[in-house]
Amino acid sequence: MGLVKMLKDKGVKANPREIAQNIANNVPENPLIEKVDVAGPGFINVYLTKAYVIDEINNLLSMGVRPPHVGARKRVLVDMSSPNIAKEMHVGHLRSTIIGDAICRLCEFVGHDVLRLNHLGDWGTQFGMLIAHLQDKFPNYLSVSPPIQDLMAFYRESKQRFDNEEEFKVRAYASVVKLQSYDPDCVKAWTLICDVSRNEFSKIYKRLDIKNLVDRGESYYQPIMPKVVEILDKLGLTKVEDGRKICWVPGHSVPLTIVKSDGGFTYDTSDMAALHQRLFEEKADWLLYVVDLGQNVHLETCYDAAAAAGWCDRKTTRIEHVGFGVVLGEDKKKFKTRSGDTVRLVELLDEGIRRSEARLREEGRDKVLNEEEFNAAKEAVAYGCIKYADLSHNRVHDYVFSFDKMLDSKGNTAVYLQYAYMRIQSIARAANVKPEDIEAAIGKVQLSLDHPKEWKLAKCLLRFPDIVLRNMDDFLMHILCEYLYELCGCFTEFWDACYVVEKDKTTGNVVKVNMDRLLLCTATARIMEAGFRILGIRTVAKM
Ligand code: ARG
Repeated sequence: MGLVKMLKDKGVKANPREIAQNIANNVPENPLIEKVDVAGPGFINVYLTKAYVIDEINNLLSMGVRPPHVGARKRVLVDMSSPNIAKEMHVGHLRSTIIGDAICRLCEFVGHDVLRLNHLGDWGTQFGMLIAHLQDKFPNYLSVSPPIQDLMAFYRESKQRFDNEEEFKVRAYASVVKLQSYDPDCVKAWTLICDVSRNEFSKIYKRLDIKNLVDRGESYYQPIMPKVVEILDKLGLTKVEDGRKICWVPGHSVPLTIVKSDGGFTYDTSDMAALHQRLFEEKADWLLYVVDLGQNVHLETCYDAAAAAGWCDRKTTRIEHVGFGVVLGEDKKKFKTRSGDTVRLVELLDEGIRRSEARLREEGRDKVLNEEEFNAAKEAVAYGCIKYADLSHNRVHDYVFSFDKMLDSKGNTAVYLQYAYMRIQSIARAANVKPEDIEAAIGKVQLSLDHPKEWKLAKCLLRFPDIVLRNMDDFLMHILCEYLYELCGCFTEFWDACYVVEKDKTTGNVVKVNMDRLLLCTATARIMEAGFRILGIRTVAKM
């Protein structure tokens, strides 16, 4: 039908069914395709040969889940998580962390070289007041580590003083200048403050299995900022207006502010410096920014400024804002606690653990599992559900946070998939088939795929690489989630219709194990594991 339109534009009249028939008639004979026929207004149905599908399943079983070919290995930088020092890490940062990590895992799966960068907000004017307040409150901070565990409260105190005490305000401003010129005492105070925050953040990363996240905050780019401003000046891209140095970028209606009227740098400057560093020092092929959609204008302006400066060609270097919508509460309003405060991430994770524990107890799992197994299951479910709920929604939409929905063991949730996976894994065990027996059967036992449900499941399994390829294009991880959910559905249909293990009705003893079907179960489990690994969701052997 697409061809008909193309031909029409060239003044040629054609009929879609006829074109389809011509294509179908001319598909050369090959081992993959059984037959090709035309349906409806001009659709072409392609039927796979059984031999091909069986071959592919055997490959999957003997070689494991292999990634699709994606061409040359790329150096991929992912700007993700990026909370702000001395401020609470909020649900927006949680989304960036979860989505960012899944994208990293996806890129790693296909063989790319991935660098996870935490672009921490660690260099703003707020540090002036934090440093000045620290110096007042804990004058011996250079020798004794100050007890500032509650950094939020500390921040509020200093803000209070900043707004009310003129002398303090002057000192706060002076501290920023001193910090930016690396005055040792100020740097020490700044480091102490950053360490407290980083320590808090790292607890969250640990709980969520976020590994290899490199801290490289805005401060990291300070030494390059003056150079970057100079480069932009030389290219004639900057201009001074009302005392500030700005940069108009072709195609954008808001300029970047590169230097403030007091001589200080901005968020824009740090992102321009980061782009320069990432393109020239890191020599990245791809730059992915997993940041909320509210920052789209800022980021796109920076990318186009980098292109205007000739640092990159946006047609060949993949520089992409992988944006996401805001998190809403069940009332569809901005996600807040009942008292209207922003939800603290630690408390959110704790609540997830409590709810998952309650759910597992409701189902009597505490009676079946020992303590260690129960705790492993509780964590896998809680964190898995929080991640999956986020990943299974189209990231560009706003997303409603609901513990009830994410822990529903019947819906498209992590716990549903985890249960399904565990059941598949336990089939062999229940039939007294050892892993080595399965291993030995691979390639020896012939798959039949004669039953329509076996055929359907097998075809679904083969789609996994296509899903991965598509995700490499759009980074819409809900596509992978939907696929895994569909795979579980295909498996259930197969399980309901086909005997895998036949048991004696009266004694319950295993009378026959259909090894070919058990291999299909194994293949399903392998694909699920690969999917879970990309999404960053834990599996447990017992739950
Ligand atoms: N710290 C920022 C925030 O909390 C996010 C940083 C995103 N990354 C970037 N390169 N600008 O909103």
